Amino acid sequence: MNTQTDRRRRAGATATDIEAHYDVGGDFYALWLDPGLTYSCALWDGIVGSPARTDLLAAAQHAKLRYHLDQAGITAGGRLLDIGCGWGSLLRTAAEETGVRHAVGLTLSADQHAHVRSLGLPRVDVELRDWRDHEPDDPYDGIVSIGAFEHFTHQAMSHEERIGAYRAFFERCAGWLPPMGRLSLQTIALADHADHDDSVPDFFAREVFPGSALPRLSEIATACEPYFAITTLREDGADYARTLRGWSARLFQAREEALRLVGPDTYRRYRTYLRASEIVFLRQASTLYRITLRRWPARRTG
Ligand SMILES: C[S@@+](CC[C@H](N)C(=O)[O-])C[C@H]1O[C@@H](n2cnc3c(N)ncnc32)[C@H](O)[C@@H]1O
Repeated sequence: MNTQTDRRRRAGATATDIEAHYDVGGDFYALWLDPGLTYSCALWDGIVGSPARTDLLAAAQHAKLRYHLDQAGITAGGRLLDIGCGWGSLLRTAAEETGVRHAVGLTLSADQHAHVRSLGLPRVDVELRDWRDHEPDDPYDGIVSIGAFEHFTHQAMSHEERIGAYRAFFERCAGWLPPMGRLSLQTIALADHADHDDSVPDFFAREVFPGSALPRLSEIATACEPYFAITTLREDGADYARTLRGWSARLFQAREEALRLVGPDTYRRYRTYLRASEIVFLRQASTLYRITLRRWPARRTG
């Protein structure tokens, strides 16, 4: 392990960890995600019907993307940073619907990076880069990060090390925003009452997000406090159970094609992970938070 990899290992998921999960291939994910390839919990407010239906899944993902753009205060002519941009659905919505002046996406996945570039979105740049290495020329008007925070620490880190890693993230985000600028964050989290030796954290680290660990709400609150006020908090674990039910059913419907693309072992692993994750959310051993954070008016010390 070289020095850079070692540094990343201590901080959370490495590019290798990320690629182990995401670079199974966009074609495989396209079989069961919505057409925009959004790979995170959707927002199902007011949407009635099966989550496996393409139109409903797409509507719920679109509602989620709009929610985060609104929460981050992104309007026409604004500048947006998307930390963990996946296959580019938020960037596309910001460019085509919100009319941003400039949007930048960061990902650690080479497959996602190539995919977003191939979309040719106007006024959008995508970087194959860790947020720790991002150095923008100008501040952003708002920042969104959906489903990436889970990758910023790993299981072997102590409580203090995790707080330090999360705090470093919030410090960087605050530095890229004007006073009162907003960060809209979505993350899976462990229920604060869950035991530290619970099998749920191990399950996610082993099967879902290698080299990663789920935060607790208390850790997020502690870590962000020097830089941000939490202004809105939504607890939407039921939305994730529903999203996972939809993905799982869609993968089953597309099993012939999935088996051809990735073979039986990967197909089975994903089916198991999607079904097991749904149960974890239904049992409330983990949940989903959408958190709006507003930078303090002036940088506070201590
Ligand atoms: C679950 S996907 C979510 C993608 C997208 N936000 C969505 O909702 O479809 C997590 C994303 O976070 C990115 N990511 C994880 N750790 C990162 C880091 N340290 N720096 C930049 N991106 C990171 C991954 O490459 C991936 O694009």
